Amino acid sequence: MPRFLSGIQPTSSPHIGNYFGAIAQHVEASRRAPRGEAFFFIADLHALNQIHDPALLAKNVRSVAASYLSMGLDVENAIFFRQSDIPEVTELTWLLATCTGMGLLERAHSYKDKTAKGIAPSVGLFTYPVLMAADILIYDADVVPVGKDQVQHIEMTQDMAGHFNARYGAGAALLKKPTWQLSRTPKVPGVDGEKMSSSYGNFIGMFEEGNALKKSVNRIVSDSRAPAEPKNPDELIPFQILELFLDDGERATWRARIEAGGEGAPGYGDMKKEIMARMDALFGPARARYRAFMEDDAAHAELESVLRAGAERARPIARGVLERCKAACGLTRGNA
Ligand code: ADP
Ligand code: TRP
Repeated sequence: MPRFLSGIQPTSSPHIGNYFGAIAQHVEASRRAPRGEAFFFIADLHALNQIHDPALLAKNVRSVAASYLSMGLDVENAIFFRQSDIPEVTELTWLLATCTGMGLLERAHSYKDKTAKGIAPSVGLFTYPVLMAADILIYDADVVPVGKDQVQHIEMTQDMAGHFNARYGAGAALLKKPTWQLSRTPKVPGVDGEKMSSSYGNFIGMFEEGNALKKSVNRIVSDSRAPAEPKNPDELIPFQILELFLDDGERATWRARIEAGGEGAPGYGDMKKEIMARMDALFGPARARYRAFMEDDAAHAELESVLRAGAERARPIARGVLERCKAACGLTRGNA
């Protein structure tokens, strides 16, 4: 059975793009995977490149953990933890950095995209893919489920593992090369039709409800065509968002009615109403638990103990891989 691993950056409270693009599949995998073979972590060290307000970082970490836990992540089966609880990962980052050519990092799209968006071009941002490679390699992960934007980082991880093995492995695979797996929903559109992102202000929060939710949903861009006019559902942002919540049968019915037009065909208002109903159905049952994790001290302590327990399971694996790598580099002690 392959070992799954994925990380999510705590750069905001999760939105439905994060949910459909990542969290939903992680929760599902946490239930399916054999015990101890799925790793999910909150990449708080990566987020330091972007979040410089300590209270906000702590709140985002809590919110990401609360989202996973309230949506039913199986923390017995899966190992759920915080990246910074495993200091070995930063040590492996250094070992990998010494085997990684500048050219490899200079080709990274994400560095260019992020600096273009105004994020400060720090050394940390530039070497972000090396930390990400260490995140993956230190647990001997086989499969990394990610969004499209992360595929290049997995390819770079494969390259870094290859360089390290070639230099120190003497034919053996010291580090296991992972593969990536695209999420089923690699690109959730935001209310403006662009990719939904916390940094574009076009998102619908997972746990928005009532008037706040209504306000967000009403921002979904539509046009002035009447419901009766036949339309291509793929061009309608309200339908692209509604579609995320539908099963195959429901999707076919909605599509046929939009394409046919005529009397009784659904308008944009109907689609938005349905999105709100589906948000309530999907996230409603988890809202109270989410709120408790965010506001209640006892629930917060429970969340912290889940993360700590996850780190206790992850750390021995990380230590084992790091020791194997250090020994191979000649970082040995005494007669070891
Ligand atoms: P953001 O762009 O809001 O800062 P991140 O880049 O931190 O989100 O993404 C966290 C996870 O959610 C990643 O696995 C990413 O691929 C996924 N994700 C983020 N936005 C979307 C989206 N619009 N559609 C699909 N998946 C997304
Ligand atoms: N870079 C990923 C993102 O922005 C988050 C991440 C950090 C990650 N380390 C990882 C994802 C390891 C998968 C595996 O979404």
